Amino acid sequence: MQHSILWLFLILAGASIIVFTYVYLSSKKANQSDQGMNQPLKKRFWFLLILFVILGIFASVTIPKSPYYLFADETPARVLHVAAMQYAFILSNDAINPESPQGETDLVLPLNELIEFRVTSLDVNHGFAIYDANNQLIAQTQAMPGYVNRLRWKFTSPGKYNILCLEFCGMDHQGMRSSFTVK
Ligand code: CUA
Repeated sequence: MQHSILWLFLILAGASIIVFTYVYLSSKKANQSDQGMNQPLKKRFWFLLILFVILGIFASVTIPKSPYYLFADETPARVLHVAAMQYAFILSNDAINPESPQGETDLVLPLNELIEFRVTSLDVNHGFAIYDANNQLIAQTQAMPGYVNRLRWKFTSPGKYNILCLEFCGMDHQGMRSSFTVK
């Protein structure tokens, strides 16, 4: 699912570039007889060329580092199911039944092992953000109704981690939190 969305994004980006280029080329044709327009058109051509080269470099550097590919070749040591709802996170080692969601408290996750969080929402959009003991954001994904987003992470330091909601989801959004321990 996430890969097809990425491909859709890339195809749409490619299509916009083609449309943009077409409009640029046809506007050039219309102005060809007007000598006074040549200088600004040349400037615009170089501006766009440099812009696309810079964007291309940024995209080729950052896209391979996107979280979609993080730990993609490894098999997770643990799978944790997460159901977000107004205003709590349900964490469970087993799949969560949306009709009667039940989770576990005081979860302990292994250190230096690949954990996969399978995150969904039972009502509206939420955020699922993991913070370390220093309140630094470690990893995050969206919790969306009807989708399961997979977030993979290896915790390299032991301790307590907090989960906070990163998307305004209602009156008690700021109270929506949970935690787990890594050791
Ligand atoms: Cu859930 Cu904000």
